[in-house]
Amino acid sequence: MNGSTTGNAELVAGIVAGLPVADHVKLLICPPFPYLNAVVDAVAGSHVAVGAQNVSEHVSGAYTGEVAAGMLRDVGCEYVITGHSERRTLFGETSWQVADKFKAALHAGLKPVLCVGETLEQRQAGNTEAVVDEQLSAVIETVGIDAFGSAVVAYEPVWAIGTGVTASPEQAQDVHRHIRATMAEHSVEMAESTQILYGGSMKGENAAGLLAMADIDGGLIGGASLKANDFLAIAQAAAVV
Ligand code: PGA
Repeated sequence: MNGSTTGNAELVAGIVAGLPVADHVKLLICPPFPYLNAVVDAVAGSHVAVGAQNVSEHVSGAYTGEVAAGMLRDVGCEYVITGHSERRTLFGETSWQVADKFKAALHAGLKPVLCVGETLEQRQAGNTEAVVDEQLSAVIETVGIDAFGSAVVAYEPVWAIGTGVTASPEQAQDVHRHIRATMAEHSVEMAESTQILYGGSMKGENAAGLLAMADIDGGLIGGASLKANDFLAIAQAAAVV
């Protein structure tokens, strides 16, 4: 819930001015709903994609205050984040509801970015893999593994989001490898081809170490995306991996 009309204009112009970073580095910006149109216009021609931060699981109808996947597509979104930990913990989204949102997004032609990750308590209790598997399995059961051909996964340890504490490259890699192994039980091809991003206090200084890990394909950036140079520093780290 960051941004304003003037602030976003400056931020996105700053990002676009620093492009292109490298052909193989894809950038996606996910602003709050009211700013989607303006950001779509601001990135036009730059190859930066735009996505939303949430979506309704319903296609259309009497759901006052909700935003349908078709509407997001209509205003120029290509992606949508589903199951961010703040949606799960603060707004009570269950893994099944997240799976329905993922499905609604796919049906509208959007690429869902599925966030999974454990809380500190769950990690300390040794439940990281079980938690991530439960979050992933609800989606696999709902839409099938092949749906990941048009989706992205983001591993976001809740204890690292917005806290300044980052998972070490090895800690993150362990879970990324596990996610890929779980996916491979359903489809080796999907496990190998799906991008798995790391999110949780990624910044210019730690991005290279994280992105160098075998199963970390990119980042989902919160705080460090609010300044163009900080965001671009991460993109530049991705360019040299
Ligand atoms: P952060 O946020 O980079 O500020 O930790 C990540 C997120 O909100 O997903």
